[in-house]
Amino acid sequence: MKSSQNFVSKQLSRQNNTLFFDGVNLQEIAENFGTPVYVYSANHIAQSFKQYQNAVANHQATICYAVKANSNLAILQMLSAMGSGFDIVSAGELIRVLEAGADPAKIVFSGVGKSSAEIKLALQHNIGCFNVESAAELERISKIAQKTNSTAHISLRVNPDVDAQTHPYISTGLKENKFGVTMDQALAIYLQAAQLPNLEIIGVDCHIGSQITQTAPYVDALNRVLGLIDQLHKHGIEIKHLDLGGGLGIRYQDETPPSPEDVISMLIHQIELWANANQRPMPKLIFEPGRSIVGNAGVLLTRVEYLKYNEDKTFAIVDAAMNDLMRPAMYESFHDMVKVYEDGQSSSNPNTFDIVGPICESGDWLGKNRQLHLESGDILAILSAGAYGMTMASNYNTRPRAAEVLVKEGSMRLVRKRETLDDLLQAERISL
Ligand code: LLP
Repeated sequence: MKSSQNFVSKQLSRQNNTLFFDGVNLQEIAENFGTPVYVYSANHIAQSFKQYQNAVANHQATICYAVKANSNLAILQMLSAMGSGFDIVSAGELIRVLEAGADPAKIVFSGVGKSSAEIKLALQHNIGCFNVESAAELERISKIAQKTNSTAHISLRVNPDVDAQTHPYISTGLKENKFGVTMDQALAIYLQAAQLPNLEIIGVDCHIGSQITQTAPYVDALNRVLGLIDQLHKHGIEIKHLDLGGGLGIRYQDETPPSPEDVISMLIHQIELWANANQRPMPKLIFEPGRSIVGNAGVLLTRVEYLKYNEDKTFAIVDAAMNDLMRPAMYESFHDMVKVYEDGQSSSNPNTFDIVGPICESGDWLGKNRQLHLESGDILAILSAGAYGMTMASNYNTRPRAAEVLVKEGSMRLVRKRETLDDLLQAERISL
């Protein structure tokens, strides 16, 4: 078991036996706002975003934060103020980023199933680019743009068929995945796009997966996409931007992913070699990071309700569950856990616990075989919960979703109220 002091975020520290996040006492947060509660560090988010900005500093580039990772308005607003663009996948995310002050020109719209209403709304707001995922979608966008007398800027999402070497559910760049169009189809679809009215081709896009911990899959994908840009050039289609998606991994346990600088400088180097060899201008670059901006900027605080000693297993039943943090149930993913208050003199012996929630499913676990000193009432911090935590939360078992708190240099702000049971029931009607 890793030492609890070896934290995944520089903003986490232990002072006088208590865990602090960005200068705020997490025990106090649990007491003030109740549990389960998500806590995000503003400084961690800002620093992660700056790593990307620094990596592209000498190039024409936009970092389009992938909203699906964490869509809290306070976080979106922070990133927008720092100059971030946004990668959205729904009308809901579009409305969120606009509310947070996003520049529409820096919005890219991804996703395999954009509805007509979503396309119309995005056109009304004149977003930067549609990342188109099929020939059928291209036709629909063209028709709607014609009807609304607007121009859709488009990029085709190609599927480079590279193995991102990540969990099968979060790998997207293989032929068998539903995303994008295959490399073999791409040229024909671009030629079709060039003929369709009210479309302007501006880019090529690819995204190969998530929680990627190596540089090689990115380079493989890039080389294939550069080959396509060459082909398009020969057919008179000039690509202005190259969107290489997101997907960079973080450390949950013992992973050692490359930094954004490492990956991006390698990619830029490859693109420069290609541009020089072919006497072509450097395309503008777009990256769509989500997890690597917010993943280790968030913790989920939960209180131990009961300890339960069965014959073969010892359980700590906590007040957070799979509806709050879906990742372990869905991907068997690992999240480190540390006690918020740890004086090292706990009366209980350390035990090997499965940390489980109150939901009626065997899949409702948050951690397995964790060596911890636990007593009922203890607060546990579940680490690396800033990405795909709250955004994937549900109301299963009619459980209201958790509150969210943003901390920054010793101050804290509630950025989303805990849902109430009234919130949950208010949309439903009993009578016909
Ligand atoms: N761009 C596109 C088109 C994407 O589909 C995604 C993530 C991203 C960017 C951002 O990827 P990131 O930098 O966050 O890896 N729920 C899963 C992750 C699903 C990722 C889906 N697409 C999880 O909890 O691990």
